[in-house]
Amino acid sequence: MAPSIDKSKCVLVTGATSGIGRALALAIAALPSHPKVIGVGRRKDRLAGLKDAGIDAEEFDVNADRVKTKDFVEEMIQKYPEIDTLVLAAGVQREVNFKKQVDLDAIATELHVNYFSILAMISFFMPHFMTKSASGQPCLIAPVTSGLAYIPAPWIANYSASKAALHSLCSSLRVQLEDTTIGVIEISPPLVESELHDAEGTTEALSKFWMPLSEYIKETIEGFQRGDSVVCNGMAKNAYEQFEKPKEQMVSEMAKRAATHSKK
Ligand SMILES: NC(=O)c1ccc[n+]([C@@H]2O[C@H](COP(=O)([O-])OP(=O)(O)OC[C@H]3O[C@@H](n4cnc5c(N)ncnc54)[C@H](OP(=O)(O)O)[C@@H]3O)[C@@H](O)[C@H]2O)c1
Repeated sequence: MAPSIDKSKCVLVTGATSGIGRALALAIAALPSHPKVIGVGRRKDRLAGLKDAGIDAEEFDVNADRVKTKDFVEEMIQKYPEIDTLVLAAGVQREVNFKKQVDLDAIATELHVNYFSILAMISFFMPHFMTKSASGQPCLIAPVTSGLAYIPAPWIANYSASKAALHSLCSSLRVQLEDTTIGVIEISPPLVESELHDAEGTTEALSKFWMPLSEYIKETIEGFQRGDSVVCNGMAKNAYEQFEKPKEQMVSEMAKRAATHSKK
């Protein structure tokens, strides 16, 4: 189990300008514990809307190089030293067809936004969280993956692969941090109402099947409050429980075996 979101004092949410990230930012700010929430995104008008809703807003393009990402993280820690929780929801989704021309620049950007930028941000926040952990303060890292991390959708092959990588990272990170007060919660949505599919023009078709955002957020906040290691719903939950949950124990056992061998 991870610490409950009810213990969080200050939560930084990426992807907070629309869809799941925005709704989570608003719902977390409205918790009875009233944590401070900082919403991050690129669109200025949406950031202004967050401010109007009482949420601090910071502009940042997560498709930045590692120097800019480090500078941003350091700026955030200096401005908001209370940050103890990351909800990493920024993400993009692009179709790819290997029988036609593959746009490698678009693929690289998708992988960077959905995977590397999250890994980099976690790495740069880690010393700050380790200091909090040393004084017994709970911290949370909550990357947003997808049910497609467990069963890939072939027409969005690179998106699915990026989410599978992020899911794998969550499992390893959780085990690495087992002896700290830093919890890792993987947020794994099914198809949910959002703007994610606007770029491909598939929103109208998908809207017939998606989970309404309000329903999704209610269930997700409940999982966050319980401190579930993986918060997943609907089809994502079915896939996680059938294919991935049985692996979690193995990840932990493999780490223990490796630790035993390294002591020999
Ligand atoms: N909706 C679904 O069906 C679904 C299912 C499974 C997983 N997910 C995941 O849930 C997360 C949220 O997606 P959503 O469905 O809520 O989509 P969305 O409405 O399109 O939101 C995506 C968010 O990511 C931000 N973002 C994208 N590129 C960025 C960049 N380069 N720099 C900074 N921010 C960037 C956007 O902000 P700006 O444009 O303002 O920068 C926006 O706030 C994503 O990780 C997505 O993969 C969604």
